[in-house]
Amino acid sequence: MQQNHKKALQDPIFKILSDAASGLALESYVIGGFVRDYILDRGTHKDIDIVSIGSGIALAEKVASMLPGNPKISIFKNFGTAMLRHHDMELEFVGARKESYQRDSRKPIVEDGTLKEDQERRDFTINALALSLNKENFGDLLDPFEGVLDLDKKIIRTPLEPCVTYSDDPLRMMRAIRFATQLNFEIELRSLQAITENKERIKIISAERTVDELHKIMACEKPSIGFSLLHNTGLLDYILPELTALEGIEEVEGQRHKDNFWHTLEVVDNIAQTTDDLWLRWAALLHDIGKAPTKKFSKKVGWTFHGHEFVGSKMVYKLFKRLRMPLNDKMKFVQKMVLMSSRPIVLAEDFATDSAVRRLVFDAGDYVEDLITLCEADITTKNPRKQKKYKNNFKLVRAKIVEVEERDHIRNFQPPVSGEEIIKTFNLKPSKEIGIIKAAIKEAILEGEIPNEYQSAYEYMLELGKNMGLSIINEKKR
Ligand code: CTP
Repeated sequence: MQQNHKKALQDPIFKILSDAASGLALESYVIGGFVRDYILDRGTHKDIDIVSIGSGIALAEKVASMLPGNPKISIFKNFGTAMLRHHDMELEFVGARKESYQRDSRKPIVEDGTLKEDQERRDFTINALALSLNKENFGDLLDPFEGVLDLDKKIIRTPLEPCVTYSDDPLRMMRAIRFATQLNFEIELRSLQAITENKERIKIISAERTVDELHKIMACEKPSIGFSLLHNTGLLDYILPELTALEGIEEVEGQRHKDNFWHTLEVVDNIAQTTDDLWLRWAALLHDIGKAPTKKFSKKVGWTFHGHEFVGSKMVYKLFKRLRMPLNDKMKFVQKMVLMSSRPIVLAEDFATDSAVRRLVFDAGDYVEDLITLCEADITTKNPRKQKKYKNNFKLVRAKIVEVEERDHIRNFQPPVSGEEIIKTFNLKPSKEIGIIKAAIKEAILEGEIPNEYQSAYEYMLELGKNMGLSIINEKKR
């Protein structure tokens, strides 16, 4: 029996679309994500894709002329698409195609397909569902490839032979994995095999499109589903070889290190439970990448990864550059997290002294809470006793940060006594003594020997000067 989903099309925009299509005698359908998410009850999809059996651009023009304010249309002639915004919705218009549906392909587009031809050239059966906008069957579902059944069975399946669908647009290999992660679906076995066979073709996809999918995987509740699939199909070797280099456990003379790849995925899942911040999630993904190039074994100390945080933070820059990710403060944030990723762990292993916490706040500045969040996520030990101890210790560290902050205002530290004042007091020429005094004052504050305030720092400076054999030329009146 024909299913009808008029309810999905209650927004007045669909009546306008239907009237416009009927005025042009242009068979038209809502297709793709909107229909899929409606049937899955995932909330309203704000991007609405409309396919017409004929010119999508003509329909867009007609719709715009019927909307209040006559909104501007963006027309992409080469792709035969048009887009307009209405309230919080983005309407995308396209003519049905016989050939692959590729928005940013440089290949000439082939139009004039039937609805079914268009549907079979789409990526997945669950994305090929169409709802009629035509007067005679408004709201009817057209599902020639049993997409609804796949939604029910939670399966990602291509309408055509998987190799055909994936070679039409290799990005779809990543889309399959992204949808599997977002929806918690299985990728059909044939499809998974086709991805593995065609993995190398991901190389022809632009970094921007690839990263877009990575971001979407990263934003999921359990990103490890996606990263495991990327890894198992071999795609990850092409996209993030720095990560796959972490896989494996080596054993020398009975000493083993942990598998840092699978550990990393656990960390990412952990952090996904506590933050939606995309860049903090990226930091979790990359926090150990320096471990592959720094791994060493010595008889004396076993496995070491000396300086992996520093090496890792340098690798972040290269990785961002290669993937054309922004080389801005987001990248700097990820670098800083990677660089400092081992610092709080030392505090969690032992009793955290005030001065150690003060130093951490001094070095991490405004990022200190994010850093602790990362380190909490980094606890993947299966030993319940250790797990409890680390978690508790981090709680104490968090409390101590607040306490130390209230008292000492170390975050975004500004030296309480300026270089100029040091020069004036001891009548110095610019010289290394100034730096020495400044550093010593900072150390005294971080060590808790003096509070972070002007008068104490000033007196401490006089004392220091005296010990260095400097004469006090201009002493401030007390
Ligand atoms: N599509 C496709 N192949 C692609 C990209 C898109 O076949 N490489 C088709 C699918 O039918 C998809 C529709 O175009 O449903 C719209 O694509 P897009 O907006 O990227 O995805 P949505 O399915 O709307 O899902 P989401 O917005 O959640 O990414």
